Amino acid sequence: MEKEEYKEDSTCETRNQPNSCSQQEQQAQAQKRLEANLSHIKHRIMVMSGKGGVGKSTVATNLAVSLSLEGLEVGLLDADIHGPNIPKMLGIESRHVEGSVNGLIPVQVLPNLKVMSTAFFIGHHDEPVVWRGPLKHSAISQFLGDVEWGKIDCLIVDLPPGTGDEPLSVAHLIKNVDGAVIVTTPQDVALLDSRKAVTFSRMLSIPVIGIVENMSVLTCPHCQKEIPLFKTGGGEKAAQDMRVPFLGRIPIDPEMVADCDRGTPFVMSHPGSAAAQVFKGIANRCAEFIRFKETEKKANLERFPYRFKMHEVKK
Ligand SMILES: Nc1ncnc2c1ncn2[C@@H]1O[C@H](COP(=O)(O)OP(=O)(O)O)[C@@H](O)[C@H]1O
Ligand SMILES: [Mg+2]
Repeated sequence: MEKEEYKEDSTCETRNQPNSCSQQEQQAQAQKRLEANLSHIKHRIMVMSGKGGVGKSTVATNLAVSLSLEGLEVGLLDADIHGPNIPKMLGIESRHVEGSVNGLIPVQVLPNLKVMSTAFFIGHHDEPVVWRGPLKHSAISQFLGDVEWGKIDCLIVDLPPGTGDEPLSVAHLIKNVDGAVIVTTPQDVALLDSRKAVTFSRMLSIPVIGIVENMSVLTCPHCQKEIPLFKTGGGEKAAQDMRVPFLGRIPIDPEMVADCDRGTPFVMSHPGSAAAQVFKGIANRCAEFIRFKETEKKANLERFPYRFKMHEVKK
């Protein structure tokens, strides 16, 4: 069919014949959808680290749950394409993603918490996702642009370890990430990598909300003595050295491992525990940070209404 015929009235979407559009047209449409979708998401926070297994997904999950329990509308995007653990941690592995005319509907976990993850699209949980960078970029782009997040206060993005494809895609696609929470464990090898995550955020002009030291100490259940299994205090020292806030020290709690495996959010099942208190403290700091950003935006709008509006229009 001749392309010219469609020129007048339609876009790739209204024609419902995507193959008849040029790649450029399709990209422009995808960009429009992405911008429209992101415009409903007030704040975006990335949870990252230099190393794997330090507790990013655990922090992202408990942060999202804590914020939603505080009454915020929250979205949790599992951007760890190769190791998507969030559905397992929330006990929603078997749930399916439904589609609507407007896109994919994220899985609802709590009345004000919804989740999207590649885990929902994998046939069997033993199946690996073997994708190169461009495919991962495209998946993240769809998770941001083609998922019906709706009007939410905050999108928490759980990232894989390191400073590779996924964090770059998220930063590139979201453009104005509000801030990054960097998770580390206290030993030197983890700290070294977490400093790289701070530098990475700075290179991309993403404010660092702060560093979290996870798996800080284990309290002996018999004598109550604190055992620094992976040392302690390194996260705070790294935060001081890198001049970023320190958000707290989460102790090792064997119940957290059991909860993750059971699919129960730790802050809900053990609200009185020392670790849950730290999670709540981290959530409060993030909420404060969000409020600060809103005040800052409002002040800018009052001080420079013209410039600010122009900037908004451009986005
Ligand atoms: N503070 C903690 N105490 C006990 N276990 C923890 C703690 N933080 C994380 N874990 C456990 O460590 C494992 C790895 O955590 P995860 O969040 O998947 O790390 P990452 O996302 O950085 O790879 C999980 O089994 C999780 O339950
Ligand atoms: Mg993870």
